[in-house]
Amino acid sequence: MNILLTGGAGFIGAHTVVELLNAGHTPIILDNFCNAHPNVLTRIKMITGVLPKLYQGDVRDRELLKRIFNENKIDSVIHFAALKAVGESVAQPLRYYDNNVSGSLILLEEMQQAGVKSIVFSSSATVYGEPKTMPINENFPTGATTNPYGTSKHMMERIMMDMQRAQPDWSVIILRYFNPIGAHASGKIGEQPNGIPNNLLPYVTQVAAGKLKELSIFGNDYPTADGTGVRDYIHVVDLAQGHVQALNVKAREAGTHIYNLGTGKGYSVLDIVQTFERETGQRVPYVFKERRAGDIAECYADPQKAWRELNWQAKRQLPEMIRDAWHWQKNNPNGYENETFQAA
Ligand code: NAD
Ligand code: UFG
Repeated sequence: MNILLTGGAGFIGAHTVVELLNAGHTPIILDNFCNAHPNVLTRIKMITGVLPKLYQGDVRDRELLKRIFNENKIDSVIHFAALKAVGESVAQPLRYYDNNVSGSLILLEEMQQAGVKSIVFSSSATVYGEPKTMPINENFPTGATTNPYGTSKHMMERIMMDMQRAQPDWSVIILRYFNPIGAHASGKIGEQPNGIPNNLLPYVTQVAAGKLKELSIFGNDYPTADGTGVRDYIHVVDLAQGHVQALNVKAREAGTHIYNLGTGKGYSVLDIVQTFERETGQRVPYVFKERRAGDIAECYADPQKAWRELNWQAKRQLPEMIRDAWHWQKNNPNGYENETFQAA
């Protein structure tokens, strides 16, 4: 299939491009590089031997979308393009709603115009808010979000469900990711957050690399085994393969299809620090701080539905996720900055 990936140069997008190529599909990337580096394309070529087709531009640019759909016979779109920093979304809600909601609306309208009726949407476990029990399955209530980023994801889920009801021949696949970490085993592509990382793993790798002094652990008084927050960390390559599998199984089946993509296992912040130290031999100094506003004690998936219906299951365990994240950080202390990107 010819797959358009909005945000395809980003962390999850780039890994999905590689897995689509491995599975014999043709990925086409649309990215404005607001949170990505053009050299990711050269790195994808190093891994796969293929330099994917790139359109540099914004998902809110209707003319560009028209051109892409005219120039390519797109079978399905994976819509990754979004802003994703929770704290920033609280400070800049309009920017977040414009990018994440208006951008998605424009994309859907232009897909409709072009007769492309299959979309995979990057959603998040954040749409579940603070569930009363664990693990979380897809029937749990959604919408009790605590920040504009999460609300933008929930809004888009609702909008796409309404659209699919009005146009029953569409296939809408909503993938709710848990906590993606790790990097491609080659060490060529990985996560490169701008500035000081918000997320745990990139923060830990930068502490170990000596770029940051110490990790602040946000809260040690949660009702969890060791008092620190528990999350369902999933290797980004498993997550990427989940997209390929969802497309293979559901892209041609009309309906709204919703799946959790997680491992089903929860690990605490201290589990992460200890596993990191054991697997890499690096020390990660840390201090306990107050809880971070908006955080919940624990969050992990019931991943059975994806296993049952998509025949997909996360395979990689925590030590491998951590080794791969460290391999990427060690090999690329400056992320993608080293080479100059050559267009096709
Ligand atoms: P990322 O920032 O690495 O990737 C997003 C990509 O979209 C970037 O390359 C960015 O340049 C691009 N982009 C943003 N706005 C754009 C626009 N208007 N036009 C064109 N390109 C645009 O983030 P990621 O971690 O790869 O996340 C991908 C998707 O998954 C996002 O929708 C994110 O909200 C969702 N998600 C991520 C996580 C996570 O923890 N990483 C968890 C749940 C959901
Ligand atoms: N944490 C720390 N110190 C840090 C960073 C994080 O102790 O410097 C803790 C958090 O308190 C939490 C855990 O590490 O207990 C994980 O935090 P992350 O920021 O890595 O991830 P979150 O679970 O808070 O959120 C992530 C994404 C969201 C997404 C959510 C569910 O950032 O966008 O997963 O998919 F919605």
